[in-house]
Amino acid sequence: MKITFEKSKIERIKADAYLFLFYQDKKLFEEELKVIENLLKCKIAKVSLEDFEGKQSQTTLVYSGDHRIIMSGLGMKNDLTIEKVRKATARGVKRAKYLKVNKLALEVLQDQSLKGVEIEDIARAQTISSILALYSFDKYFTKKENQDLHSVREIVLFSQYNSLTKYAKDIEEGIKTGSIIGEATNLARDLGNEPSNVIYPESFADHVVKRSKNRNYSVQVLDKKEITKLKMGGVLEVARGSSRDPRFLILHYNGGRKNEAPYVIVGKGVTFDSGGISIKPAAGMGLMKVDMGGGAAVVGVFEAISQLGLKLNVVGLIPLVENMPSGNSFKPGDVITAHNGMTIEVDNTDAEGRLILADALSYASKFKPKLVIDMATLTGASIVAIGYVASIVMGNNEELIEKLRVAGDQTYDRVWPLPLWDDYDRMIDSEIADVKNSGQSRQAGTIMGGMFLKRFIGDYPWAHIDIAATAMRDRESDYDPKNATGAGVRLVTKFLVNEASGK
Ligand code: BES
Ligand code: ZN
Ligand code: ZN
Repeated sequence: MKITFEKSKIERIKADAYLFLFYQDKKLFEEELKVIENLLKCKIAKVSLEDFEGKQSQTTLVYSGDHRIIMSGLGMKNDLTIEKVRKATARGVKRAKYLKVNKLALEVLQDQSLKGVEIEDIARAQTISSILALYSFDKYFTKKENQDLHSVREIVLFSQYNSLTKYAKDIEEGIKTGSIIGEATNLARDLGNEPSNVIYPESFADHVVKRSKNRNYSVQVLDKKEITKLKMGGVLEVARGSSRDPRFLILHYNGGRKNEAPYVIVGKGVTFDSGGISIKPAAGMGLMKVDMGGGAAVVGVFEAISQLGLKLNVVGLIPLVENMPSGNSFKPGDVITAHNGMTIEVDNTDAEGRLILADALSYASKFKPKLVIDMATLTGASIVAIGYVASIVMGNNEELIEKLRVAGDQTYDRVWPLPLWDDYDRMIDSEIADVKNSGQSRQAGTIMGGMFLKRFIGDYPWAHIDIAATAMRDRESDYDPKNATGAGVRLVTKFLVNEASGK
């Protein structure tokens, strides 16, 4: 998607449609209409606006002269947030897509009342939400009419105020970084949406290796033999029931000084989670192709930070497996040994994510990390706890958790904390091994996942982000599509951007 800024004359844009954002306010509405009529040298028939009040999530289309004008509501001016700007932009852009608009002109919102938000942030937010809203995964349709939904090919941002030309550089920077982050999120979505007969551990690895060739990060792929040598019992045992061999990816991005401790980002890479012998019910099982959403988010973060050129060192770890039932599968009651030598009683083969993460988190110590963040579609219980609106964060370091919460608020790829109190520890004690992979009851399912992982971390600040509630959705909303959402990419990229700028 090509996104640019036109700083001189709106007439130069020659767009197929113009998208303006409106407040829910009669006076401001009238003023804005006049501005538009002036800019486009046309007259808008008042009758065509009778039902449009600028309410949040309301859009309308008017024709005037040679122009198609899409209006999208922001709600009340006093209640404006940057998320409302993202949503209004997304709705308007989608309206343009359904109209099969090729080239869309989009107004950069200028509003000084948003505290701590610069014009660059607004341009970035509008760029990202446009790219995310236009995402579609249509490659498997053989009929052209199904494929051709994605019709907006170019967006030109413009301003109705000439004074904005002095901000042109900032707007262009927002567009540039926003395009990188938006496309990186869409890449994570693509990986998630690919069916598990296409993306399995080996092909996931191939794909990332191929991408890294055009970027400034490297990928090391460990195969089953090397994983065996490292005694990663979690990865090996979960993969045992599948005809697809596991892989373990190690990504390196070296933007920092040579000896600077790296940030380690870990992602759960279960390319399909059938549950294994503790098999899942059939309904909705297909969505478990997105159970590598954490791993996909790590790839998205590397795509983003390498193009943004962050001055940090970052290591990515992605254990990749397929969890299947078969005569070779690991079974409930089995005792397995993780990379760090700890024994685990497998209570439930469907609690497989924590087994592969146990290996990755103990392996992370090797890099003497500054801190470790893992992202995983770990527990259905997180959806019960918080709904589809945020991920859950847990960890051993309040400062890190708070920084992630802030990055979540800034990007709206949000996280909210749950505790990892010692009181929960006994719930994962096993009678025959060092630890058990699930709690005894239906209590605190998401915390159980966190408590289990906590036993495998090394001596480093750590945060675990359970993205089960956010990485996949069963319906579209604003700029999030149905199925894979790319959750975690914007969050962790922003966290790293903040770290790099010393915030
Ligand atoms: N991949 C699932 C978690 C999940 C569920 C992600 C729904 C997205 C949507 C995970 O491997 C799993 O099955 N977890 C179990 C844990 C339980 C057996 C302790 C769960 O959540 O039921
Ligand atoms: Zn599972
Ligand atoms: Zn899983």
